[in-house]
Amino acid sequence: MTPNIRPLVAGNWKMNGKRDALGVVKQVADASDRDSLSKIDALLCPPATLLYVATTLTEDSALNIGGQDCHTNKSGAHTGDISAEMIADCLGSHVIVGHSERRTDHGETDAMVKEKAHAVLASGLKAIVCIGETEEERKSGKTLDVLKTQLAGSVTDKATAENTVIAYEPVWAIGTGLVPSVEDVTEAHAFMRAELVARFGEAGQNMKILYGGSVKPNNAAELMSILNVDGALVGGASLKADDFIAICEATASVA
Ligand code: 13P
Repeated sequence: MTPNIRPLVAGNWKMNGKRDALGVVKQVADASDRDSLSKIDALLCPPATLLYVATTLTEDSALNIGGQDCHTNKSGAHTGDISAEMIADCLGSHVIVGHSERRTDHGETDAMVKEKAHAVLASGLKAIVCIGETEEERKSGKTLDVLKTQLAGSVTDKATAENTVIAYEPVWAIGTGLVPSVEDVTEAHAFMRAELVARFGEAGQNMKILYGGSVKPNNAAELMSILNVDGALVGGASLKADDFIAICEATASVA
């Protein structure tokens, strides 16, 4: 954690979840109003097909709902895409951009991610900008270089502590059950903090930096206790209400 930063626990459902998963949304929404979770923000990013129903279900709760990606434009001839404006219209609060699966599956570059982040902010939403090194990059000692390049290339100059969240997700830790050591997470997050402060000053000091990659109920408290880790971006464990709520509770317990 970073003193004075309100933690965010975000769930990314990826291409999972049909209508019967809305019960998970409801359970997490109910839990989000617990006193024990008053010190954190919780967010679920279901697939676009469920977004509007999810925001409707949760409008009276503290749980936020977001999108997983958006196009750079507001509207137009882009079959299959959705815009940040559409997510805003569905009452979403955040949009994840630059997830490593988008970078890999759809060839998204830092420049494209920055444009998407820009579109998110232009729609009045908050961008969660994902960065992280591959296994090969880590093994060859390039982790910090990769983070520096991705931060510079993917985060827009319009970023503030209010409108932008950074999510550090080592690609090799996603969906594998592998988690970097406490020392490695500490080093990466301290490095990102220094980069953000160098670029944005005070805003960089206050910007949330999430950790993502195999966050589970049994490792969340340890990961969230690390300096400059201001919450989590959770994949698989966010599909199960009990697990996601346990991660929220673990985060709140060290906040
Ligand atoms: P897992 O928590 O399943 O490793 O996924 C992390 C992730 O990619 C969240 O965006």
